[in-house]
Amino acid sequence: MCGIFGYIGKNSNASKEVLNGLRILEYRGYDSWGIATKTNKKFVIEKHVGKIDEAKTNSQFFDLLSTLSIGHTRWATHGGVTRENAHPHLDCSRTIALVHNGIVENYEEIKKQLVKRGHIFHSATDTEIIPHLIEEGMKTNGFATAVRDAFNQLEGMNAIVVAYAGSSEIIAAKTGSPLVIGKSKDALYIASDASSILPHTKNLLFLKDNTMAILGGKVEILSLPEGKKEKVKFETVSWEEETSTKGAFSHFMLKEIYEQPRIIRNIAKTYKDSVLDLAKTIKNAKGTFFIGAGTAAYAGIAGTYFFSKTAGKHVNMSFASEFTYLLDFLTSKSLIIALSQSGETIDVVEPLTQVKRKGGTIVALVNTQGSTIYRMSDKKLLLGAGIEQAVASTKAYTAKLSILLMIAYAMKHDVENASSQLMTTALEIERILKESKKLKPIVDILTRSEHIYVIGRGVSYSSALEAALKIKEITYIHAEGLAGGELKHGALALISKGTPCIVFAPNDETYQSIISNATEIKSRGGVIIGISPKKEAIFDHWIEVKDCQDAVSIAQIVPVQLLSYQIAVKKGFDPDKPRNLAKSVTVK
Ligand code: AGP
Ligand code: GLU
Repeated sequence: MCGIFGYIGKNSNASKEVLNGLRILEYRGYDSWGIATKTNKKFVIEKHVGKIDEAKTNSQFFDLLSTLSIGHTRWATHGGVTRENAHPHLDCSRTIALVHNGIVENYEEIKKQLVKRGHIFHSATDTEIIPHLIEEGMKTNGFATAVRDAFNQLEGMNAIVVAYAGSSEIIAAKTGSPLVIGKSKDALYIASDASSILPHTKNLLFLKDNTMAILGGKVEILSLPEGKKEKVKFETVSWEEETSTKGAFSHFMLKEIYEQPRIIRNIAKTYKDSVLDLAKTIKNAKGTFFIGAGTAAYAGIAGTYFFSKTAGKHVNMSFASEFTYLLDFLTSKSLIIALSQSGETIDVVEPLTQVKRKGGTIVALVNTQGSTIYRMSDKKLLLGAGIEQAVASTKAYTAKLSILLMIAYAMKHDVENASSQLMTTALEIERILKESKKLKPIVDILTRSEHIYVIGRGVSYSSALEAALKIKEITYIHAEGLAGGELKHGALALISKGTPCIVFAPNDETYQSIISNATEIKSRGGVIIGISPKKEAIFDHWIEVKDCQDAVSIAQIVPVQLLSYQIAVKKGFDPDKPRNLAKSVTVK
C-alpha cells in the first residue's frame, strides 16, 4: 500500500533512480503512480493510472537532467483512481511537490479555509491540501518551518515527502507510516521501506514518529511539533537484499504454497532455542495477548487453541484494529505478541505505540527484518518464510502456526514432540501438493458457486476463518468461515439445495460434533466437501489430509490454498494481485 521514494544525489538522472525505487515498492500494492523531478528550478510531473510501464511514459521525462526527484505509488483512500488524484500534488505556484501516505483526517475543514483564501484544487484527495498549506506558510516563513507548521496542523497518521523548486533539499515528516533514509557516498534516499534502498546502501536511518528530516548537503532531524534538533544516528544494517522470482511457477502464490514444507522443516529443526526463550517470557507475563490483522489474526486464534490444549495457558487474542479500544486494563506486566508478515500493518503498529507508553512487553513474530513492528518490539522472532510477494498470505501463515505450536510445546518442555509433529506435517503437505490435480472436480463446483461456507471446531475454527478469507480474497466468491457450533444460531438459514460447505473434520476431539454439523447442512441440501483423514459417508467430496496430531491446522489449510488458487486462475483473475487489496497495509 503506497510507496514513497525520493532521491537527491550526484546522479543526474534522478527520475530513473526514483522509477527503479518505485519498482521495488510495487509489491506493496497500488493503483496509480507518479514522479516529480526538479529541473531548472521547476518541477516536471509524470503521473499514470495503473501499473508502472515505462513504455507509456513521456519518453523525454527520463532524459531530463536532474539530481532531485520524488515519486509515489498510490493506494487510493480519498478520491477515485484517476491521474489527477495520483501523487505528487502541487501548490498553486507549482513550486512545491509532495507525496503522502496516510489519511489527513481533518482535510475537509482545512480545504474549506484554503479555498476561501483563493487556493485552487485539481484533485479529490485529502493530500492536496498539504502543498497548499505549505504555500500559505511560505508567505511568512522558510521552507522547513512552513512544512513543519503545515504538518503539525494535520490529524491522523501521516508521512509526507516534499520538495520545493527553490531549494535543493527534500523534507520528510511523519506521525505514522514508515520512512527510511539511506546515505551513500553520492546520494541520499528516502523511501517507505528499506528494501528499495538496500541496492544502494546499507547505511540507514529509520525516521521515528513525530519527527521530520531535512535531506540536503547533510541530514538534519527535528522533533515534532516543536522543531528541536535531534541526534542524527545512521545504522549499518547487515541484512541482505531479498529478492524473489517466480521461477518455474506461473504465479508467486503457487510458488509460495510449494515452499511451505521446506519452511516448516526449517522451523522444526532450528527454532528450538528461540521458542524456549519465548516460552519463558510468556510464563513470566501477567496477561498475554496475540494481536494481528487478517490472516495473521487467524494465526493468533489458532495460537489460543495451541496454548490452551498443549500448554494449559490462557492467551487472549484480539484483532489489532480493535485492540486499541481494549487497552485500559493493560499493565506494565502485560505481554503483547504481535503477529505480522510485513511488520508494517498500521492496525498493529497503532496499538503497539500505546502499549509502549504503558510499559508492557512486545514480542514480534514477523517475517520482515527491520520492519516497523520488528524495530518497536522488545523481543523478536523472524518467521523465516522468505519474502512473500503474493497478496494472499500462505507460507507466512503456516510459518506462524508452526512457531506458535513450537512455543506452546516449549511451555511444557516438550519441544521435540512439536518438532517431530511438524516434520510429519511437512511430509503430508508434500503429498497434498503432489495430488493437487485431483482437486479439479471440486474446483469446477466451487467456481460456479456464489456462496461457500466453511466450518470447523476447536483449532479448525481458525482454519475455517482462514480458508474463507483465502477464497474471498482471490476468487471474489463470498465465503464465510464459522465455528461448527454457531451454524444453527443463524447461518443455517442460508443453506439450500447445492450450497457448498467445506468441513474440517480432523482426527481430534471435534470429530463427532463437526460431522453432526455437516449432517445438519446435508439435510438441508448442502454439498459437503470434507477435509479429513477419514472418508465419511456424508461427504459428497473428500480431500484427504492425514492425521498430523496437533499440527493438523497447518496441513489442512493447504488444500484450500490450492483450491482458491485454482479457482482464481480458472476465473481469469490474477491470484497474486487481487483487486482493492495491498500487501502492506499502511493506512488505517
Ligand atoms: C492475507 O491473505 C491478507 N492479504 C491480509 O489479511 C493480511 O494477512 C493482513 O493484511 C495482515 O498483514 P501482515 O501479516 O503483513 O500484518
Ligand atoms: N490519502 C491519500 C490518497 O488517497 C494517500 C493514499 C496513499 O497512502 O497511497 O491519495
